[in-house]
Amino acid sequence: MAGIAGAERHPVFYIAMVSTIAAVGGMLFGYDTGVISGAILFIEREFSLSAEAQGLVVSVVTAGALVGAIAAGAMADGLGRRVTNITAGVLFVVSSILCGLAPGALTLVAGRFLVGVAVGMTSVAAPMYIAEVAPPAMRGRLVSYFQLAVTIGIFAAYLVDAALAASGSWRWMLALAVVPGALLAGGMVAMPESPRWLLKRGREEEARRVLGLVRESGVDREIADVREELAREGSGTWGDLLGRDARPALVVGIGLAVFQQITGINAVIYYAPQIFQSAGFSSDTVALAATTGIGAINVAATFIAIGLVDRVGRRPLLLAGTTGMVVALAVLGVAFLETKSGGETPGYLGALTVVCLALYIVCFAFSLGPIVWTMISEIFPLRNRAHAVAISTAANWAANFAVSLTFPILREDLGSAPTFLLYAALGVLTILFVMTRVPETKGKTLEEIQRLWRA
Ligand code: BGC
Repeated sequence: MAGIAGAERHPVFYIAMVSTIAAVGGMLFGYDTGVISGAILFIEREFSLSAEAQGLVVSVVTAGALVGAIAAGAMADGLGRRVTNITAGVLFVVSSILCGLAPGALTLVAGRFLVGVAVGMTSVAAPMYIAEVAPPAMRGRLVSYFQLAVTIGIFAAYLVDAALAASGSWRWMLALAVVPGALLAGGMVAMPESPRWLLKRGREEEARRVLGLVRESGVDREIADVREELAREGSGTWGDLLGRDARPALVVGIGLAVFQQITGINAVIYYAPQIFQSAGFSSDTVALAATTGIGAINVAATFIAIGLVDRVGRRPLLLAGTTGMVVALAVLGVAFLETKSGGETPGYLGALTVVCLALYIVCFAFSLGPIVWTMISEIFPLRNRAHAVAISTAANWAANFAVSLTFPILREDLGSAPTFLLYAALGVLTILFVMTRVPETKGKTLEEIQRLWRA
C-alpha cells in the first residue's frame, strides 16, 4: 500500500510529516479565501465588472466550499480520507490554472467555484485525517497546525497581493496556488490511509501497519477499542444523523461551526482595510499595512493554542478566547457610537480600533479558530464521522457566506457600532453554548470521547 516507505522513522517524525502534508490544504484554504481582496481591484478593471459580478467572483468560493464539504463527506466515507485529500489537491491545481488563464468573467467565476469546492473538501478531509492518525495526547496540537496553516495562507495572500499590486498581476495572484496544490496532491499520494477508516472497512492488517508507523506502543489495544466502538454504532448512512443518538454531538458540531463565524471573524479578515478607513486611517497604504499586521498577529497567536490545547484543554481556551473577543467587540462598538453622535471621527478612534481588532484576533486565534476545527473532527462516532463532519463544515461555510455578504450591508444600514455590538451579543451566546453543551475532550482517545456522550 501507499506510503509505507520510511517505516523505519520515529513515530513522532512520521506523525509530524503526515500532519504537515495534510495541513498544506489549510494553507490553500487561507490563501484562496484571502487573495481575492487584493486581486478583485484589477479583475474589476480588466473585465469591467458590475458590482454584482464582483460580489459573485468574491463570494462564489464560499458557495463552492459548501458543495465541496458535502462531497467530501461522501467521498471520505466511501473512498477514504487519503483519496479525498488527494482529490482536493488536484482540484486546487486545476482551478488555479483555470483562474490564472481565464479569458473572461464567466470562466473566472467557474474557476473560483472550483477553488471553493477544493477549499470545502480540504476543510473536511484534512482535520479529520489528522485527528484520526494523531495520538490522543497530541491531537489538539496537531489539528491546530491545520489552523496555523490557514492563518499562514491568509498572511501569504496579503503579502502576495501587496507585492504584485504595483504590476496589477491578478492572474499570478490566483495562479500561485498551483504550487501548494501540487504539493498537497503529490504529498498525500505518499501518505498512508487513516487507520480508523481502514478498520471501518475491515482492513485490519493495513490499519495495524499504519498504526505501527505512528504509535510507539498500544496498537492492539487501540484496534480492539475501535472495533468495540464500531460494533456498537448504527448503519453509517447519512440517515443516522437524524437519529436521537447522533443529536447531542451534531448540535455541538454544528453549533461550534456556526458560532465560529457569526461572531464576525471574517468581517475582520475580509474587510479589515475598510474598518481601518472608517476609523480614520484615510490612506490606503496605512490601512493595508494595518491589515497585514492583523494577518501576522493571527499567525503568531495560533501558537498559544498549539502550546496549550492539550495541556489546559479545549473548554478553558474556548471560554477565555470568546470572552476576550466579546470585550474587544463591545469596546469597538461603543467607540464607534461616538462617530455617529458627533459626526466627526474622534482622534483616538484609529488607535483604539487597532488595539481592539488586535485583541479580537489574538483571542480568536487561540480559541474559536483552532479549537472548532479540532472538536468537529473528534466528537463524532467513526461510523458516520465523515458525514457529520461534512454537515458541520457545510454549516460553517453557510454561516461564513451569510456574514461576509451581510457585513457591508449591516454597516451601511445600521452603522458600525450596532454591527459590532451584534457580534458581541452573539459572542455571549457562544460562551453560554460552550458552558452548557461542549464537553472536554483533552487527552481522550476518539473512542473514549464517544463514551462521554453515552454517560
Ligand atoms: C475560519 C475562517 C477564518 C480563519 C481566520 C478559520 O478557522 O474557519 O473562516 O477566515 O480561521 O484565521
